[in-house]
Amino acid sequence: MRIIEQLESEVRSYVRSFPAVFDVAEGAFLYDEHGNRFIDFFAGAGTLNYGHNNPAITKAMIDYLSRNGIVHGLDKATVAKKNFLQKFHDTILVPRNLDYKVQFTGPTGTNAVETALKLARMVKRRSNIIAFTNGYHGLTMGALAVTGNDFYRDEHYGARVNADSMPYDGYFGPDINTIDYLRKFISDQSSGVDLPAAIIVETVQGEGGINIAGAEWLRQLEALCREYDILLIIDDIQMGNGRTGSFFSFEEAGIKPDMVTLSKSIGGGLPMALVLMRPELDQWKPGEHTGTFRGNNLAFVAATEALNYWDNGDFAEGVAYKGRIMEQLLGEIVGKHQELEIGLRGRGMVWGLDFGARPGFAGDVSREAFKNGLVIELAGAEDNVVKFLPSLTIDEETLREGMAIIDKVIGELQAQGAERRRGVSQ
Ligand SMILES: Cc1ncc(COP(=O)(O)O)c(C=O)c1O
Repeated sequence: MRIIEQLESEVRSYVRSFPAVFDVAEGAFLYDEHGNRFIDFFAGAGTLNYGHNNPAITKAMIDYLSRNGIVHGLDKATVAKKNFLQKFHDTILVPRNLDYKVQFTGPTGTNAVETALKLARMVKRRSNIIAFTNGYHGLTMGALAVTGNDFYRDEHYGARVNADSMPYDGYFGPDINTIDYLRKFISDQSSGVDLPAAIIVETVQGEGGINIAGAEWLRQLEALCREYDILLIIDDIQMGNGRTGSFFSFEEAGIKPDMVTLSKSIGGGLPMALVLMRPELDQWKPGEHTGTFRGNNLAFVAATEALNYWDNGDFAEGVAYKGRIMEQLLGEIVGKHQELEIGLRGRGMVWGLDFGARPGFAGDVSREAFKNGLVIELAGAEDNVVKFLPSLTIDEETLREGMAIIDKVIGELQAQGAERRRGVSQ
């Protein structure tokens, strides 16, 4: 660890939350350099939906490398790319009746967001973009402008231009429909909010604290976009690839976004990002938006293999089944500790325990869980939400084992807190 602390920038982050030197990873497990085992409920922030070193994906990559398959190809035509596009078309787009063109961008999520925002502005010839409170879309300058959390922003970046923030679903509580609020701002030419080229939204805010947009809210948002000729961009970087149960997180709402950003798990664990767009929006001139690493052929191979999980409905069924287990076990924890006033939110296999009533408690849970062999991260503006994001391929036994660690840790922390409070009052 010394060389990392000595040489790596102060910006390093997860190494501080999870202070171990990891070496090997398999499925839902991580192992440190001493062979200690950890259950991974973080899954690379949603990158490892198919698990660490998924054997089928690894085999496909080894086979490809063994035959000297081209790894770097800029955006030249390659067999690996052709196969990916064919598989994506046949397995994902056609069965969902979605007619999108695919643009490969630089390999990380923020590259896809930058691309979508740029294209929306170019096509609509408007510069403003509307995003939502607590949204997270990445940290390069364009994406940062539509990211809510103050921690990542600094007015000196000058990154707040051409973007307005509006209240997400439930921002003012359950009784206020924030679409009405948004509609008022968009329809009133004196509201101070310019008609946007696009509205960008996550169906479930992952980094923002597992806040969930209702299906009806999403449908109203889509209708509003159609009414005012605004493009609807769904950022499915963290919630896509099956996290909520279906391949795209917006399927349940029955909406058809104009653009979709995908990254994280689309590459089967390797860096890859893309933008899906309605064909008529594909108005780029050849080479107008490029990037050296937008044709990661090894990721195409991994991604093509990963899409085999979507050949039939079994995988989605498994996610629904394990999601119900998560909901039930977390519900029991919430019920057991009513004095903690824990909020529970989630869909599919993404869940959050909100400890907002006890600032700092969520951080203690994550820290103690790690000591007990579980990697689990925090979310939300104040880091008050413990975020459950296991790989979707995790087996039931390991899932339950991880949940039992959380149950135990919360019980112990609560008992220690009660002890301390008794000590103070004596
Ligand atoms: C919804 C969403 N969009 C964009 C990003 C940015 O992706 P990346 O960190 O790969 O740039 C993230 C990352 O967590 C995300 O969750």
